[in-house]
Amino acid sequence: MLKVAVIGLGNIGNTHAPVYQADPLANFVAVCDIIKEKADKAAERYGVRAYYSVEDLLKNEELDAVSVCSAGVENGGDHYEPIMQCLEAGLNVLGEKPISNDIVKARAMVKKAEEKGVYFGTNLNHRFVPPAAKAKQWITEGKLGHLLLMNMTMWIGNPNETSPWFHMRALHPHSFDIMRFMCGDIKRVHAFMNHAPGRICWSNAQINVEFTNGVVGHLTGSYDTNPSHNLERCEVMGTEGRLVLDNLYEELTFYPRRSNELTVIRNSIMGGLSGFGATFTNRIHRWLEQIHAEVPPEELEASAREGLAVQEVIEAAIRSHESGKAEEVPLMV
Ligand SMILES: NC(=O)c1ccc[n+]([C@@H]2O[C@H](COP(=O)([O-])OP(=O)(O)OC[C@H]3O[C@@H](n4cnc5c(N)ncnc54)[C@H](O)[C@@H]3O)[C@@H](O)[C@H]2O)c1
Repeated sequence: MLKVAVIGLGNIGNTHAPVYQADPLANFVAVCDIIKEKADKAAERYGVRAYYSVEDLLKNEELDAVSVCSAGVENGGDHYEPIMQCLEAGLNVLGEKPISNDIVKARAMVKKAEEKGVYFGTNLNHRFVPPAAKAKQWITEGKLGHLLLMNMTMWIGNPNETSPWFHMRALHPHSFDIMRFMCGDIKRVHAFMNHAPGRICWSNAQINVEFTNGVVGHLTGSYDTNPSHNLERCEVMGTEGRLVLDNLYEELTFYPRRSNELTVIRNSIMGGLSGFGATFTNRIHRWLEQIHAEVPPEELEASAREGLAVQEVIEAAIRSHESGKAEEVPLMV
């Protein structure tokens, strides 16, 4: 069993915590929040010890891994400090997305984790659902043939405003992660954005992307819709057929090019995923499983390196919106 703690006990820390509590691979021992009441309330709820600074947590607990669920500007402005403290102490860290809203800090964290030889993951939870794994398997096995096109949509309603780039930096780590998960690295982007009346942030985006393998794709993103209608949709087309993964995990369909017979996999009411929360359960279990199995760090799924890769795409999209031109995504070194 791995001894774990959760840092940052807002809504999302309180989503990670019960998952650790229920997972047989975890021994959940402590919570930490700089707001005493939040730490105390969580400690009481989960029956674990409370700390009010990361320094104290690290001094008093012998941990194997932590989840860092701080937030801040653009939902990522506070991650750097607690994550660096934990990495410096040699702990395995699962950070929330975005890895950071500051690309320089994101790069520094990934570098630090690699120097320390620890596991550093990002909670890119949307890909941790069985239909996404099946879609990826179809792609890898060549069921779609030679890949050509991909379309992605992710839209939710978020009226918060922390900066002009809040929508891009806070939401689209998930979208670009699914796009990269299916089709690989992205090398070029061309972005167009607008904002809903009265909004400060660029709350709607249409972004063309070119993948390193030649696939051309598109992302539609919005903070101005109702996610209960549809949260996301992913479509990949190749020379032999097309797949559509609708609404994260609700339905996966394969449309073969040379036949009219479709393959449809629906989320079953008998044992299928019960809701969005299951993406956290699956992601965190895989995180624990991979640490437990001591996989080579470069094999960690949804690693912080991948969390950084999506942030590099987002920054290139922001540059493109400002320049009006297609922009290169820097190669990861
Ligand atoms: N993966 C997902 O599906 C998903 C969904 C929503 C939000 N998120 C992400 O989860 C993160 C947290 O979101 P939230 O809504 O819970 O935020 P929140 O603001 O409600 O909670 C953050 C908590 O972290 C604490 N904190 C900040 N710095 C700290 C530090 N140095 N040490 C200890 N505690 C510290 C704050 O006091 C606060 O209680 C964000 O990065 C957000 O983008 C992820």
